[in-house]
Amino acid sequence: MNRLLPIFMKLENQPCIVVGGGKIAYQKIKQLLEGEADITVKSPAISEEIRSLPVTIQKTAYQKNDVDGYKLVIAATDDVNVNRQVYEDAQQYGIPVNVVDQPELCSFYMGSVFQDGDVKVAVSTNGKCPSFGKFIRDHIKNMSKGVWGKALEKLALQRVKIINSISSYSQKKQVMEKLVNSTKNKFIPKQVKRGKVFIVGAGPGDPELITVKGLQAIQNADVILHDALVHPHLVFEINPNAEKIFVGKREGKHSVSQATIQSLMIEAANQGKQVVRLKGGDPFIFGRGAEEAEALAKAGITFEVIAGVTAGIGAAAGFGIPLTSRNEAQSTTLITGHQCEKNGKHNWRALAELNSTLVFYMGVKNISEIVSGLIKNGKSSSTPLAIVQNGTMVSQQIFISTLENVEKELEGTNLKTPAVIIIGEVVNHHQRLQKYVTSIPADYVDPVGDFGFDIWKNEVVVA
Ligand SMILES: C[S@@+](CC[C@H](N)C(=O)[O-])C[C@H]1O[C@@H](n2cnc3c(N)ncnc32)[C@H](O)[C@@H]1O
Repeated sequence: MNRLLPIFMKLENQPCIVVGGGKIAYQKIKQLLEGEADITVKSPAISEEIRSLPVTIQKTAYQKNDVDGYKLVIAATDDVNVNRQVYEDAQQYGIPVNVVDQPELCSFYMGSVFQDGDVKVAVSTNGKCPSFGKFIRDHIKNMSKGVWGKALEKLALQRVKIINSISSYSQKKQVMEKLVNSTKNKFIPKQVKRGKVFIVGAGPGDPELITVKGLQAIQNADVILHDALVHPHLVFEINPNAEKIFVGKREGKHSVSQATIQSLMIEAANQGKQVVRLKGGDPFIFGRGAEEAEALAKAGITFEVIAGVTAGIGAAAGFGIPLTSRNEAQSTTLITGHQCEKNGKHNWRALAELNSTLVFYMGVKNISEIVSGLIKNGKSSSTPLAIVQNGTMVSQQIFISTLENVEKELEGTNLKTPAVIIIGEVVNHHQRLQKYVTSIPADYVDPVGDFGFDIWKNEVVVA
């Protein structure tokens, strides 16, 4: 229990003594100078910085009763005997005394002080933890934002008029309280509660492939805007209380426009909410995460991008395909299969010549363009090719072929999407390893049964 009585002392031109000439003494002198006290500093050694201050210097050791005649005493020496002597003398003369860092030798403490104009707030921790006092002082400073000093000036002017026009003390008090209350909105700076958006990569399908950071963002979210290919366990089971907004689009069925997704995120963040934009795979790989980041920045919203396992890498790993295996591939190229119509937009020659594993996303519809674009430009027609469907999901499947045979072999098969096409010698690893490599996707919920709708089928759900 803090039994100290907070009082603000008038020390202007009053004689005060600081015993000690080092760093701590300097800090205390600075505080006393704010009260415009008339300060004497007594110590055999006095620092340069103290000598530059407007104080009287006595370069001598403290002698018994030297405090006589002063109104306030501070001891800041590293000699316990001197400190005790100062304390005892001050007590004898009835002078308030503070021996720095020795609460048992203090009759007063100097709190952590916040000042804005004539507003002054001092925080006491009863000598227990001055650093915590400073923390509270800074918090008060943040709340004031430099407004309270000016507010006080205005109120003071109005107070003079009120005092002159009303005679009764209680009436004056009432009117002043009313005035302060009615104008407080002007001097309490509006706390603009700004939210944050986490653009999170959910991974390719298996809900356990999300990062720990991504999972934490979901746990803390107020709103989750989710795509079609995100596992329902991540969307619905991790944080049942969060508002869920389905904003998925698949195969050209644009259920929610990109502009709408962006404004939903911005609106929620502006309401001070923690928003998770949960995207399949990695947000920045063919995911329009870049556009979303740009839109947030433009709207002045803070955001964080949390990487995810992209589908090509997840799908390949699950089937034991090392995308950059030494001797077979110097690199891996992630390519969109969207823009291959009529062998037009891609630089097929460069892709054919690269010693790189090629991973096509969104390419199943355009497989004949991909095959012909590569073979025509010199890629060996016997190059192995794998199509991984529903990679890392319970229903994952792999279809193995070569560039020259794939179209023929696909005839009559029912290829499921989402799928990635992996082209390169590294695909052969799958054949060699398949007996031993197992990948067991986590399956907490049935994406159709448990939710009453098929999450993979682009149904719009706002939960
Ligand atoms: C719009 S892109 C989004 C890619 C995502 N941002 C990523 O990093 O994986 C969608 C394409 O990713 C691929 N894809 C996504 N999930 C997949 C999965 N589980 N298995 C195979 N391919 C997948 C498909 O090619 C699909 O058409």
